[in-house]
This record gives sequence, structure tokens and C-alpha cells, in this order.
Amino acid sequence: MCVAMKTWVISFAIVFLLGTYTSLYAETCSTITCHTAITAFKNSHQPLKDGNCFSCHQQTVKEHPLKGGKSFGFTAKPADLCKTCHNKFVKKKQEHPPFKDGDCIACHNPHGASGRFLLDDSEDRSGLCFGCHDSAPFSQKFVHGPVATGSCNVCHDPHQSDVKSLLKGASRELCLSCHSDFAAKMQAASIIHPPVKKEPCTSCHNPHSSLWPNMLKKGMPDLCTECHKETAKKIKNAKVPHKPVNEGRLCASCHSAHFSKAKGLMSTDDEKSTCLSCHNNDKLGNPPLANVKKDLEGKKHVHGPIKKGLCSGCHAPHGSNFPRILTGNYPSEFYVPFKEGSYSFCLKCHDKNIVNFAETTIYTKFRNGSRNLHFVHVNNSKGRNCKACHETHASNGTKLISAEGTKFGEWRVQSRLQLTSTGGSCAPGCHRRYSYDRAKPVDMAFPLNK
Ligand code: HEC
Ligand code: HEC
Ligand code: HEC
Ligand code: HEC
Ligand code: HEC
Ligand code: HEC
Ligand code: HEC
Ligand code: HEC
Ligand code: HEC
Ligand code: HEC
Ligand code: HEC
Ligand code: HEC
Ligand code: HEC
Repeated sequence: MCVAMKTWVISFAIVFLLGTYTSLYAETCSTITCHTAITAFKNSHQPLKDGNCFSCHQQTVKEHPLKGGKSFGFTAKPADLCKTCHNKFVKKKQEHPPFKDGDCIACHNPHGASGRFLLDDSEDRSGLCFGCHDSAPFSQKFVHGPVATGSCNVCHDPHQSDVKSLLKGASRELCLSCHSDFAAKMQAASIIHPPVKKEPCTSCHNPHSSLWPNMLKKGMPDLCTECHKETAKKIKNAKVPHKPVNEGRLCASCHSAHFSKAKGLMSTDDEKSTCLSCHNNDKLGNPPLANVKKDLEGKKHVHGPIKKGLCSGCHAPHGSNFPRILTGNYPSEFYVPFKEGSYSFCLKCHDKNIVNFAETTIYTKFRNGSRNLHFVHVNNSKGRNCKACHETHASNGTKLISAEGTKFGEWRVQSRLQLTSTGGSCAPGCHRRYSYDRAKPVDMAFPLNK
């Protein structure tokens, strides 16, 4: 052989040995009859594409195949095998045990797969996880959208994380990243429920699934009353309960759990409209309650608190010890013998002396000279209830004096009140027209004191 020829043969051998050597092994490992499946994946692992079976496998026994035995081992301890090449992971605070232990093949196929990342081509990753994790907590009656599709990886990093529970971000921000409508509305709200503002959403919600709608951690009202013990106590002790507190959507029939434009975390823009969302028809209750919405509509004079959008100064929304869930004593009869405290309900907002003195020049305008006509009508053994003259919610009459007439059995007592700058006159069904004047007392005997 000439020198040139020798050089060619040697260099061919070198090229063969260094270059094609490995791929040749690959070809010999994966032939028509042997290990075909290993290279038949849509997406092969790079070392396999390179034909480099020996980067992972090492022949330990000369004979191959070996009947009933193994002729190949690994180039590294199984736990270290993948990390020999994949050594760029920066260690984070929390490592998923199989990742930490190098059990990469619990999830990845070392050779190839139908999808990216040596995983099956599927959105649904839950199969991977349920190999080790019990699937029961993820399949209760109400399942979260991304859990139902097995998209565990949108919230969890399968390897490691600096956040508890291997989350891909701070829990609350993670929730808001998808619930962006919710986040926008929350930003616009003036009141945010403290646990929603400060705690992770998971203080009330299970991120995966639950036995209750909206993946709540507990049923209502327990979810709420666990923190709101005082309110729970009031509800339990109320002799006159308010039905929606204990039925139907419970706390959520009036409150938003998250945020609101209205004080008290109301579910509508103000308290009044929350109440009127139910008290807006003639069929509520048995016997039916007055249709308050209709009673307020178009009225010229609306009682002060309602004008401010409130019903709660007068009614205890969670129930009370007084009829009509009022916040204090108020008789329901038309005629009531007067007793100290009978009208404490009205008088916690109005002058407490309004009906106390027979003579006054300051406590009320309803007087003839200094003779207190509130005292005259109310403070005696045949006392007239305030509602004999005043409407409670609203009226077309000034001073809430019923223009329509107060119910007296089946009849309506119309007061026909006319006011002047210093007094007025009434001609109700009770007596002929009487006048009163604060500046120049009208000389007349009121036959009402008995
Ligand atoms: C990146 C490392 C790596 C490369 C490269 C690699 N393998 Fe593997 N192989 C493994 C691991 C890890 C296992 C063990 C899998 C298990 O236990 O589930 C394995 C298992 C096997 C098995 C036995 C189980 C089975 O899946 O049939 C065969 C055969 C095999 N490899 C052949 C090959 C061939 C042929 C090549 C080259 C074409 C190759 N491997 C390339 C890592 C590798
Ligand atoms: C011999 C070196 C080597 C070894 C050993 C090795 N890999 Fe790889 N792996 C690569 C290279 C090269 C790539 C392609 C470049 C990249 O994505 O980093 C890759 C890519 C990957 C990818 C991404 C594939 C994709 O579709 O993007 C995964 C997942 C992976 N390897 C997992 C493993 C696992 C699991 C093991 C252990 C069984 C392992 N690798 C062992 C070299 C190796
Ligand atoms: C619990 C399952 C699981 C285990 C264990 C696991 N992986 Fe992964 N790995 C995944 C999933 C799922 C993805 C796809 C990532 C995604 O969609 O965000 C992935 C992606 C990858 C990727 C490509 C993307 C990236 O993050 O660089 C590499 C490389 C990788 N894994 C290597 C490894 C190695 C090495 C190990 C072992 C040390 C390992 N994996 C253990 C599930 C796992
Ligand atoms: C090979 C078994 C295995 C697989 C597969 C696996 N896990 Fe795990 N995982 C574990 C073990 C073990 C723990 C630790 C359990 C413990 O602390 O109680 C764990 C813990 C976790 C934790 C809790 C971490 C913490 O500190 O609370 C999360 C989250 C998690 N895994 C998510 C996943 C997801 C998502 C998948 C699928 C992509 C998955 N796991 C697949 C074994 C596995
Ligand atoms: C919407 C985001 C999200 C999705 C999707 C999700 N998780 Fe979680 N996961 C969380 C959060 C948040 C926690 C922490 C819970 C906590 O702090 O109370 C958690 C906790 C865990 C834990 C720790 C134990 C526990 O239950 O608290 C495991 C295990 C787990 N998830 C597995 C999974 C698996 C498996 C899937 C897919 C079937 C999945 N997760 C899908 C958000 C998610
Ligand atoms: C990857 C996006 C994504 C993330 C992250 C996410 N969600 Fe969701 N969530 C959804 C989808 C999709 C739905 C279903 C929407 C629908 O049915 O209209 C949903 C529905 C809900 C529902 C209503 C369930 C029902 O029965 O209608 C609640 C409550 C909820 N998510 C809370 C959370 C909480 C808490 C977190 C954080 C732990 C979170 N979400 C994180 C996508 C996400
Ligand atoms: C104080 C407990 C509590 C907290 C904290 C909480 N939620 Fe809720 N969430 C609820 C209740 C209760 C419901 C059901 C409301 C209903 O029945 O009207 C609900 C319903 C939902 C719904 C479905 C209905 C809707 O209003 O769109 C989504 C989405 C939701 N929550 C997301 C979140 C997110 C995101 C967070 C964290 C920023 C969060 N929640 C924090 C109690 C809570
Ligand atoms: C994790 C504890 C926690 C849970 C659970 C919780 N709350 Fe609260 N809530 C608070 C705190 C703290 C405040 C602010 C202090 C206060 O007023 O007691 C508050 C305030 C409120 C207020 C008063 C807001 C105001 O402007 O006066 C209402 C109404 C309310 N919560 C209703 C609910 C309802 C309804 C639920 C159930 C869906 C609920 N809360 C669940 C902690 C909680
Ligand atoms: C019928 C409507 C209604 C229902 C149902 C209702 N609330 Fe309220 N709640 C209100 C109104 C109106 C206020 C504000 C007025 C006030 O301060 O009393 C309020 C105030 C509150 C407050 C602030 C402190 C307090 O006691 O005034 C808390 C806390 C609260 N509610 C919790 C709850 C819980 C928990 C439930 C369910 C068990 C519930 N509410 C059911 C109407 C309701
Ligand atoms: C979810 C519907 C709903 C909402 C919202 C609601 N109520 Fe009621 N309310 C009822 C029902 C139902 C009854 C009981 C009817 C019956 O069976 O007698 C009732 C009864 C009443 C009674 C009469 C109680 C009695 O025992 O005589 C008053 C007064 C009352 N509600 C005021 C309010 C006020 C004030 C609000 C707002 C803070 C409000 N309601 C919000 C449904 C509602
Ligand atoms: C200024 C105090 C006050 C305010 C504010 C108030 N109420 Fe009343 N409400 C009463 C009194 C007093 C009664 C009992 C009247 C009676 O016994 O004749 C009553 C009775 C009721 C009744 C029972 C009606 C019936 O059939 O006899 C309902 C329902 C009611 N109120 C709802 C509301 C709603 C809704 C609001 C807010 C829009 C509201 N109230 C605001 C004082 C008030
Ligand atoms: C929660 C507080 C509150 C309670 C309880 C209350 N009121 Fe009032 N009332 C007001 C306010 C506020 C005004 C408006 C005062 C103003 O405009 O100067 C008002 C106005 C009136 C007026 C009209 C006065 C005027 O000058 O136009 C009459 C009449 C009246 N109330 C009667 C009653 C009667 C009768 C009761 C008991 C059934 C009652 N109020 C219970 C707060 C209350
Ligand atoms: C016999 C009819 C009648 C009865 C009963 C009555 N009022 Fe009046 N009230 C009036 C008249 C008339 C005025 C208007 C006086 C004026 O401005 O000239 C008035 C005015 C008021 C005012 C406005 C302030 C003032 O005193 O000038 C309040 C508040 C009020 N009444 C509360 C009550 C309360 C509370 C009761 C029950 C304890 C009650 N009224 C019973 C007829 C009555």
C-alpha cells in the first residue's frame, strides 16, 4: 500500500471510529427487528436523534441479548443519569420529591414521546400526577375549569419553585392572572373584604374541587360564620328571624363575598336596592308583606334613612327580638295605652321628649301655643300610635303624614293635613277640622285626653 493509501485508510478509520461509530451503534441497536419502538417517536430525545444510545446505556455483559438477564446498565446512577446533561436547573426553595430524587422518568419518557418535553401530546397532564397523587381531591362535585382539563401545569411547576405548593407564582396573583375580569372589578370597587384583599383566595376556595358550588372550602353560612362569630351569635339568638339569612343563598343573598361599591359589602350598589331586590312584589311571605318597592315609587316624601339608601337603621337585617325585625320597641296596634318606652324605636332617632311633656315650646312643632299635640294624641290610655298619622316608609304628604290615609280596619283615615307657617289643621276621620297655631294659639278644646 502506498503512503497516500495508508493515510486514507487510517483517516477513514479515525473518522469512522470517532464520527460514525456511535450512529452505527444506534443503527445496530434499533433495527427492523430490535428496539424499533425506541426510535419511532414523533419527538425523539436529542441524544437519540444523535444516535447516541451509549450516552445513557452501557454494556455490562458481552452477550446481548441475554436470555433471562441484563446485558446493559446505565452510564450513571439512575438518579443522576438525566442530571449529567441537564445540570442547569438553579435550585429553588422547594423541590418536587421525584425531581429532587432524579426520578425524571416518573414523568418523562427517556427516549421520546408524541409531544414536546418527552411527554405525551396532551393538554391533560393529570395522568402524570395521578400516578402518585390520589385523584379523589380533584374530582369532587364541583371541579375548577383548569383542573377538569388536567392543566395542573398552569398553576404548578412540576420540578421546583420558590413558592409553597410548587406554585408558579404567588397564589393570589395566580388566581387573578386568569380571573382578570374579577381583578378589574375589584380594582374599581371601593370596599374590598379584608380576607379577599390580604389573604390568598384559597382561604375560602379550594383550588381544585369541592363539595360546594364555586369550590368553596365549606358550605354557607359556616364559611362566613367561622370568622364572623358575633354575627352568628346574633342570628342564633334572634327571636324574630329574617328568612333569607337562614334559607336559599343565605349570606350571599345580600352580601358580596369579595368586594362592593356599598358599605356593608352589599351585593348591589346600595343597601336599599339589595332589600328591594326581594321586597318588590305582592307575593313575598304568608300572609304577603307590603310591596315596599311599590310603596316607595314616585313618593314625594321618603323617610330620612331610606333617602340615604338605608333600611338597616330601622330593621335588623340578620333578625331581631322585635316584630318586623325592627331595631327597637314599636307597637303594632292602632290604639295603645301609652307606656314609657313604647316608642323607643322612633325616639332613638327623634327627640326623645317629643311625647313626654304636656307643655313644650321646643320639642315639637305639633303644638297649639305650648300645648304639645303629640302628647295629647299619644301619651294617654287611649294612645294613638304614630302610624295613626305618619307613614313609616314614604308618603305624598308632608311630614310623612299619610295623604292616602292610614288603615283603620278596612277604612282609610285621611288626615287632610294642611300646614301653615306657624301651624296647621287636620280633618281626619276622627274629628272635625281642628287648627293649631304655635304663635297664636287657637282657642279650642281637644276632646282627646281620655
Ligand atoms: C437519555 C438517556 C437514554 C438514551 C440516550 C437512551 N436510553 Fe434507553 N433507556 C433509558 C432509561 C432511563 C431507561 C429505563 C426506562 C424505564 O425504566 O422505564 C431506558 C430503557 C431502555 C430499554 C429497556 C426498556 C424499554 O423501554 O424497552 C431499552 C431496550 C433501551 N432503553 C434502548 C435504548 C436504545 C436502543 C437507545 C438508542 C437508540 C436508547 N435506549 C437511548 C435512557 C436512555
Ligand atoms: C447525553 C446528554 C443527555 C442526557 C443524559 C439526557 N438528556 Fe435530555 N436532552 C439533551 C439534549 C441535548 C436536549 C435538547 C436540548 C435541550 O432542550 O436542552 C435534551 C432535551 C430534553 C428535554 C426537552 C425535550 C423537548 O421536547 O424540548 C427533556 C424533557 C429531557 N431532555 C429530559 C431528559 C431526561 C428525563 C433525561 C434522563 C432520562 C435526560 N433528558 C437525559 C441531552 C440529554
Ligand atoms: C412530576 C413530573 C415531572 C418530573 C418528575 C420531571 N419533570 Fe421535567 N417536565 C415535566 C413537565 C410536565 C414538563 C413540561 C413543562 C411545562 O409544560 O411547563 C417538563 C419539562 C422539562 C424540561 C423542558 C422544559 C424545561 O423546564 O427546561 C426538561 C429539560 C425537563 N423537564 C427535565 C427534567 C429532568 C432532568 C427531571 C429530573 C431531574 C424532570 N424533568 C423531572 C414533568 C416532570
Ligand atoms: C413519582 C411520584 C409523583 C408524581 C408523578 C407526581 N408527584 Fe407530586 N409529589 C410527590 C411526592 C412524593 C410529594 C410529597 C408529598 C408530601 O409531601 O406529602 C409530592 C408533592 C406535590 C406537591 C405539594 C408540594 C407541597 O409542598 O405541598 C404538589 C403541588 C405536587 N406534588 C404536584 C404534582 C403535580 C402537578 C404532578 C403532575 C405534573 C405531580 N405532583 C406528580 C410525588 C409525585
Ligand atoms: C388554578 C390553579 C391550580 C391548578 C390548575 C391545580 N392546582 Fe394544585 N394547588 C393550587 C394551589 C393554589 C395549591 C395550594 C393550596 C393551599 O395553599 O391551600 C395547590 C396545592 C396542590 C397540592 C398540595 C396538596 C394540597 O392539596 O394542598 C397538590 C398535590 C396539587 N395541588 C396537585 C395538583 C394537581 C395534580 C393538579 C392537576 C390535576 C393541580 N394541582 C391543579 C393550585 C392549582
Ligand atoms: C389557568 C386559568 C385559571 C387560573 C390560574 C384560575 N382559574 Fe378559576 N377558573 C378558570 C376557568 C376557566 C373557570 C371556569 C369559568 C366558567 O365556567 O365560566 C374558573 C372558575 C372559577 C370559579 C367559579 C367556579 C364555578 O363553579 O363557576 C372560581 C370560584 C374560581 N375559578 C376560583 C379560582 C381561584 C381561587 C384561583 C386561584 C387558586 C383560580 N380560580 C385560578 C380559570 C382559572
Ligand atoms: C371570604 C371568602 C372568600 C374569599 C377570600 C374569596 N372568595 Fe371567591 N367566592 C366566595 C363565595 C362565598 C363565592 C360564591 C358567591 C355566591 O354564591 O354568590 C365566591 C365566588 C367566586 C367566583 C365565582 C363567582 C363570581 O363572583 O365570579 C370567583 C371567580 C371567585 N370567587 C374568585 C375569587 C378570587 C380570585 C379570590 C381571591 C382574590 C376569591 N374568590 C376570594 C368567597 C370568597
Ligand atoms: C378569614 C376570615 C373571614 C371570612 C371567612 C369571612 N370574613 Fe367577612 N370580614 C372579615 C374581616 C377581618 C372583616 C373586617 C372586620 C370586620 O368588619 O369584622 C370582615 C368584614 C365583613 C363585612 C363588613 C364589611 C363592612 O363594610 O362593614 C361583611 C358584611 C362580611 N365580612 C361578610 C362576610 C361574608 C358574607 C362571608 C362569607 C362569604 C365572610 N364575611 C367571610 C373576615 C372574614
Ligand atoms: C337580608 C340581607 C342580609 C343577609 C341575608 C345577611 N346580611 Fe349581613 N348585613 C346586611 C346588612 C344590610 C348589613 C349592614 C347593616 C348593619 O350594619 O347592620 C349587614 C352587615 C353585616 C356584617 C357587618 C357587621 C354587622 O354585624 O353589622 C357582617 C359581618 C355580616 N353582615 C355578615 C353576614 C353573614 C355571615 C351572613 C350570613 C349568615 C349575613 N350577613 C347575611 C344584610 C344581610
Ligand atoms: C333574598 C330575599 C330577601 C332580601 C334580599 C331581603 N328580604 Fe326581607 N324578607 C324576605 C322574606 C322571604 C321574608 C319573610 C316573608 C315571610 O315568610 O313572612 C322577609 C321578611 C322581611 C320583613 C318582615 C319580617 C317579619 O317577621 O315580619 C322585613 C321587615 C324585611 N324582610 C326587611 C328587609 C330588609 C330591611 C332587607 C334588606 C336589608 C331585606 N328584607 C332583604 C326576603 C328578603
Ligand atoms: C325609619 C324606619 C324604617 C326604615 C328606614 C325602613 N323601615 Fe320598613 N318598617 C318600619 C316600621 C316601623 C315597620 C312596621 C310598620 C307597622 O307595623 O305598621 C316597617 C315594616 C316593614 C315591612 C313589613 C311591611 C308589612 O307588610 O307590614 C317590610 C317588608 C319593610 N318594612 C321593609 C323595609 C325596607 C325594604 C326598607 C328599606 C327600603 C325599610 N323597610 C326601611 C320602619 C322602617
Ligand atoms: C334610624 C333613625 C330613624 C328612626 C328609627 C325613625 N326615624 Fe323618622 N326620620 C329620620 C330621619 C333621618 C328623618 C329626616 C329628618 C330631616 O330631614 O331633618 C326622619 C324624618 C321623620 C319625619 C318627618 C320630619 C320632617 O320634619 O319632615 C317624621 C314624621 C318621622 N321621621 C317619624 C318617625 C316615626 C313615626 C318613627 C318610628 C316609627 C321614626 N320616624 C323612626 C330618622 C329616623
Ligand atoms: C295625631 C297625629 C299624629 C300622631 C299620632 C303623631 N304625629 Fe308626629 N306629627 C304630626 C303632625 C301634624 C306633625 C307636623 C307638625 C308641624 O310641622 O306643624 C308631626 C310632626 C312630627 C315630627 C317632625 C318633628 C316635629 O315634632 O315637629 C316627628 C319626628 C314626628 N311627628 C314623630 C312622631 C312620632 C315618633 C309619633 C309617635 C310616637 C308621632 N309623631 C305621632 C302628627 C302626629
